[in-house]
Amino acid sequence: MITAQNLIKHFGTATAVNNISFEVKEGENLVLLGTSGCGKTTTLRMINRLIEPDSGTVFVNGTDIRTQQPEVLRRGIGYVLQNHGLFPHYTVAENIAIVPRLLKWADQDIRKRADELFQKLNLDASLAGQYPAALSGGQQQRVGLARSLMVNPPLLLMDEPFGALDNLTRISIRKEFRALDELVKKTIVMVTHDVQEAFEMGDRICLMDKGEIKQIGTPEELLFKPANDFVRGFFDEQRLQLELRSVLLKEVFPESDASSEVSVWDRMDALLHPENGNLPADDIRIGDLMRAFETYKRK
Ligand SMILES: Nc1ncnc2c1ncn2[C@@H]1O[C@H](COP(=O)(O)OP(=O)(O)OP(=O)(O)O)[C@@H](O)[C@H]1O
Ligand SMILES: [Mg+2]
Repeated sequence: MITAQNLIKHFGTATAVNNISFEVKEGENLVLLGTSGCGKTTTLRMINRLIEPDSGTVFVNGTDIRTQQPEVLRRGIGYVLQNHGLFPHYTVAENIAIVPRLLKWADQDIRKRADELFQKLNLDASLAGQYPAALSGGQQQRVGLARSLMVNPPLLLMDEPFGALDNLTRISIRKEFRALDELVKKTIVMVTHDVQEAFEMGDRICLMDKGEIKQIGTPEELLFKPANDFVRGFFDEQRLQLELRSVLLKEVFPESDASSEVSVWDRMDALLHPENGNLPADDIRIGDLMRAFETYKRK
């Protein structure tokens, strides 16, 4: 779906992106991960031509994007900006109608689609007439997403979509977004500097540093087969939690018929908090779990 080839971008004498290449398959969710200033936003914006690379190019569905009008290209690519990017002097309804109006949608169709997305994204209909400043951070984030989804583009670029939220809100919105049918089939490139978020949202993670890609692969590959010391070091602080989250119960207990898609982390959480009532009736104990996990890791 997306092929980026040898992208280079300088700003003055600084190198923001230094010769990177990657691919995103249809329906895949690729996360660009890295610390502030490593070139994530610059990379994302080269996909929809908000930034033109100094050299290299991007193909979307096999078409070199340099041969397309930027405006035409962008209509097929949803974009959720860092810090939501809503226009302050437009109401919520006006904000989300921008692209449909460019495409000359009828008013009633715009309203219908907006109503549908408001429902799916848990936004109260009364917010439509409000200005962005009157909304909470979480609501602004949802409106930003609604705006990017209005014309149902097959490709979505999201720049720190949960960046402005407190940690608890982040976790719950993330869960909601992951379950959203509108997002399931889309090809998504998402930027974050949050490691947990990258592991939760990404089919693959592209770890960047100083404008370069240090490794690109599944969360498990980055964790268990780091390509270099940078990658190994990057995850060290949260390593145990990430490992527990990314390994499934069925992987450490292959013979058991333990419910298959539960992670070791979730199972441990259920054991530690039986009051939440998620504890299955088998007799796996926490000690068994840790031992089996350690054995699994040694293999
Ligand atoms: N318009 C610009 N003019 C000059 N320098 C820029 C411009 N945009 C980005 N840069 C520089 O390029 C580098 C990469 O910036 P970029 O915005 O891509 O980083 P980022 O990974 O998105 O960071 P953050 O997590 O803070 O958003 C930074 O050093 C930044 O200062
Ligand atoms: Mg950025």
